[in-house]
Amino acid sequence: MRTHDAQMLVLSALADGPLHGYAINAAVEKLSGERLGPGSLYGALARLEAKELVEPLPGEGRQRPVRLTAKGRAALERELRSLAEVTERMFEAAVPDRIGYLDRLAGTAAARSYKQVMRDALAARPDHTALDLGCGPGTDLAALAEAVTPSGTVIGVDTDPEAVDRARERTADLPAVDVRLADAHALPLADASVDRARTDRVLQHVADPARVLAEARRVLRPGGRLVMGEPDWDSLAIDHPEPELSRAYTRHIADRIVRNGVIGRQLPRLAAGAGFTVPSVVPVTSVFRDVRAADRILGFQRNAERAAAAGYFSEEAARRFLDHLATGPFLAAVTLYVVVAEVPGPEPESGSEPGESEPEEPGSEPETERRDGAS
Ligand SMILES: C[S@@+](CC[C@H](N)C(=O)[O-])C[C@H]1O[C@@H](n2cnc3c(N)ncnc32)[C@H](O)[C@@H]1O
Repeated sequence: MRTHDAQMLVLSALADGPLHGYAINAAVEKLSGERLGPGSLYGALARLEAKELVEPLPGEGRQRPVRLTAKGRAALERELRSLAEVTERMFEAAVPDRIGYLDRLAGTAAARSYKQVMRDALAARPDHTALDLGCGPGTDLAALAEAVTPSGTVIGVDTDPEAVDRARERTADLPAVDVRLADAHALPLADASVDRARTDRVLQHVADPARVLAEARRVLRPGGRLVMGEPDWDSLAIDHPEPELSRAYTRHIADRIVRNGVIGRQLPRLAAGAGFTVPSVVPVTSVFRDVRAADRILGFQRNAERAAAAGYFSEEAARRFLDHLATGPFLAAVTLYVVVAEVPGPEPESGSEPGESEPEEPGSEPETERRDGAS
């Protein structure tokens, strides 16, 4: 039996004592968010009675209260134990180490897809100086190096010493790459010294996104381009028969877990405020159909527990939220915005590639906008 099977719901509804038909259905609704149809309710009761898992008490017709038998209580406890085991096996309890988490995320189809959109939008060329703000363990540095080779340079910047060490190890054989331990709020770079810059899920974490954008604007040359890929955690939609539980889970992530939880939608305004033009905004929605894969990114159990501790829903509601995710067909989706911001002015001509096509004009539409038709 699964949580949402009618018999399991009826057994659970009777856990606190005898109830009659109407009250059973009210308790079922509280547990699952939905009432059982009369056929399902009375069919489930008849089957449970035949298996001696419930027994009627004296009363009139459908008003007769029904209670769990000892056998019924044992069956309920067995079911709940096995459900808890499923839940535990399904969800990752420990917080993964930061670099392991970033590597794991980078390997997902969802990440590969939006990172490709970002690469297309960045359009880094062989002679560019490209800056990866918040480069982490070097996730995107090799691809950037390939784009700017042979005469360009890649600068990776991160505040996490462990990530910087890892990024240096991983790019040790790429002479074009220079990884620096530095803060994106105060870049150790000269004004107008960079052609391309990117942030990839970084502005969602920084103390002052407007300050970081002002720094990016300062170090980019006229005609230079910043491509930002940042999520909007308010868009996290998780299917659940009680949608208010998903909303509570999402609100907790957007309010409490991620510092700038709705940065995705704010990027065009913030970029304009920093003096950029914003030729393109491309939403990239990742859809997850596999609960385990989603859990490796979204940490359902630990974040549901935190949400309960912070009062976003009760512990019992957190359990109902997780139980359904562990057992039912699964769907979740979240949108990340890829926003292109450009420094007004003509981009310097490329001198490195003989026969190369005309340099792009400032304000020209990046490839992604034409392809995806988003605005
Ligand atoms: C979610 S990770 C993304 C890493 C990488 N961009 C990727 O796609 O794998 C965010 C990174 O931003 C870095 N970060 C956070 N605040 C920063 C700041 N003020 N300056 C530079 N890096 C920062 C973190 O240390 C972390 O490595």
